[in-house]
Amino acid sequence: MKYSRITGTGSYLPPRRLTNADLVAELAAKGVETSDEWIVERTGIRARHFAADGVFSSDLGMEAAKKALEAAGRSAKDVDLIIVATSTPDMVFPSTACILQNKLGANGGAAFDVQAVCSGFVYALAVADSMVKTGAAKCALVVGAEIFSRILDFNDRTTCVLFGDGAGAVVLEASDTPGILSSDLHADGKHVSILCVPGHVSGGAILGDPLLKMDGQAVFKLAVGLLESAARATLNKANLTEADIDWLVPHQANIRIMQSTARKLKLSMDKVVVTVDQHGNTSAASIPLALDAGVRSGQVKPGQTLLLEGVGGGFTWGALLLIL
Ligand code: UT7
Repeated sequence: MKYSRITGTGSYLPPRRLTNADLVAELAAKGVETSDEWIVERTGIRARHFAADGVFSSDLGMEAAKKALEAAGRSAKDVDLIIVATSTPDMVFPSTACILQNKLGANGGAAFDVQAVCSGFVYALAVADSMVKTGAAKCALVVGAEIFSRILDFNDRTTCVLFGDGAGAVVLEASDTPGILSSDLHADGKHVSILCVPGHVSGGAILGDPLLKMDGQAVFKLAVGLLESAARATLNKANLTEADIDWLVPHQANIRIMQSTARKLKLSMDKVVVTVDQHGNTSAASIPLALDAGVRSGQVKPGQTLLLEGVGGGFTWGALLLIL
């Protein structure tokens, strides 16, 4: 089998949904001033979901994974590889993938996490593709799962209005027909400080700041150029052009970044899957959440060509082209 192909998608959002109005009211009670108008105009976000206390990324990932397995007609016993993309793991170690594997009852195959922040799902899918193509795995579960609400500073209005919690998953299997066509991954560690959670655990205590810091404008400027170059690289590698793209499934950080990428690729916005309005930025979960939303709404169909792309802390960025 020469290829790897997505055979099922799934996603899960925790039940607690906060509209901008809900969040604005909560923040106002703390003396933090923001507005629905600012959030919608600058980001396109209208609502996000937050996980309840005691719920972990592996729990969200499990719900998404179950739906993806069901859609693929597979059971947990078929899974021989689990990769979880997350920056909000359940524990320092073991990996969220190992915890998820046990919760699913998929024990025995390989399981590990990928840490590439908002590019994490593209990274994880590219790694799984390589492992399936080389025969190292036959049936992989690739999950993006995040609880960013736990690492937000709710006194910092420049970041706390942007993010949400959730999970998405795909089943990736060996196939005789093309699925994943190409991928293009990059990182540049000199930009560590523009998007980071700088704290760490030492001697039984958290040292440094364990909450998210972002220079939004610096990230925005970098993101627009890097997403275009990664997208073009995947097209070149697959000998395709922008005209071959049926759907752009971008990381859902900001509608303005998505519009800019679509413009650069000469795609109209009706070829872009948009969930940022309802989910906010769910980091590594955003692309598989958007993919599953597109598939389950019936818009994104088997046989169509999809471009997935994302940027995130690191700085990391990447794109992946596939036939669904
Ligand atoms: O997922 C990883 C990748 N992350 C991203 O892609 C995020 C990329 N960056 C962005 O999406 C945007 O830069 C933001 C949405 C974060 C910010 O939008 P912006 O248009 O770049 O706004 P800004 O940072 O230039 O701030 C404009 C103004 C400032 O006020 P002054 O200095 O002009 O008086 C901010 O203090 O908006 C103010 N501001 C707010 N006002 C109301 C910042 N946050 C808020 C807020 N509510 N929540």
